[in-house]
Amino acid sequence: MSQPLPLVDSFNRTVNYMRVSVTDRCNLRCTYCMPAYGVNWMQQDTILSFDEFYRIIERAVARGLKKIRITGGEPLVRSGIVDFIAKVAALKERGLKDLAMTTNAVLLKTMAGPLYKAGLRRMNISLDSLNPKRFEEVTRGNCFRKVWEGIEEAERVGFSPLKINMVLQKGCNDDEVIDFVKMTLNRDIHVRFIEYMPCGDYDDWKSKYMPMDDVMKRIEAEFGKLETNLEDKGGNEGTSGPAYNFKLPGGKGVVGFIHAISEHFCDTCNRVRLTADGSLRPCLFSDIEVNFREALRRNCSDEELDDLFDQSLQIKPEGHMLEQFAEEKTLKSMISIGG
Ligand code: GTP
Ligand code: 5AD
Ligand code: SF4
Repeated sequence: MSQPLPLVDSFNRTVNYMRVSVTDRCNLRCTYCMPAYGVNWMQQDTILSFDEFYRIIERAVARGLKKIRITGGEPLVRSGIVDFIAKVAALKERGLKDLAMTTNAVLLKTMAGPLYKAGLRRMNISLDSLNPKRFEEVTRGNCFRKVWEGIEEAERVGFSPLKINMVLQKGCNDDEVIDFVKMTLNRDIHVRFIEYMPCGDYDDWKSKYMPMDDVMKRIEAEFGKLETNLEDKGGNEGTSGPAYNFKLPGGKGVVGFIHAISEHFCDTCNRVRLTADGSLRPCLFSDIEVNFREALRRNCSDEELDDLFDQSLQIKPEGHMLEQFAEEKTLKSMISIGG
């Protein structure tokens, strides 16, 4: 049999990174992730089983996928997640190089140990404020303490590198930039500042959006010029995520910037997203998706799966134009896409 072809799109970009959203449910309600009036939850019977996710992942790895990130909603609210991680981690023997998760850490205090044992080594954690009251305003959840304990447990268990994601919102948490950066002075963690993206229905997006260059200037005014740290970018066989990484002079950890809007990285985009209800979404900012569920549920052949992958790659857009056309919004909120 001939070797399966690599995943390459019509602009000659190789896709080696898939973000897999295992559920659209979450135990928080972050303001930038879903509107106050809520979202339409996916119907239970449309959500893929872990076996169905595995079938897609296994085929993608056979076609050269190198990196999987498990997302949600919140991935840890789905029961059976630890066993699923163990099964996907075993694909490292068949070409997968990197398995990671993005979580809100609410359930991490008890789950960090079992996840590590299952073979997960890398975790990114969303944390937008170090102030418990503000944390509650942003997440609509009163659980800062739990999250902090979850982060400490993940560090203790040995997750490395541990990355903290902070979505910047002007007038809300931008006064905490320096405190977040200070965490990298003595700890071997990454703190990543992220530009607020308009996914779904957010009227307040424009007024709260803050370009990363402003954030960087603020940090350099306080600590001096940041040192470039290229280890993460361009490494990992080209599977790197979107962050530009730096270090504080004399700092132990990493300070990262994700210019999702102001300087988009579409020309080097290496990723696709699998939604919890089994569609492949080739671009975060485009609602065009290809449905794999129907084929999976009639036990399709690998060749049919390959055709669906190829269709998705053919329609992967060249890039987004959000900076110019900020009124363009996606139909789906982040919670249904997984970031
Ligand atoms: P690493 O593998 O650790 O580099 O992770 P990552 O940065 O790829 O993943 P994470 O889930 O931590 O995402 C961090 C931020 O980057 C989130 O706000 C994502 O929504 C955003 N992000 C990830 N991929 C893309 C993308 O393709 N386009 C845009 N605009 N944002 C993205
Ligand atoms: N803009 C930027 N980042 C977002 N995330 C969720 N919603 C948004 C948004 N509107 C981030 C979360 C999480 C990651 C998966 O995506 O904070 O860390
Ligand atoms: Fe849940 Fe993460 Fe969205 Fe917050 S950002 S509501 S924690 S999925």
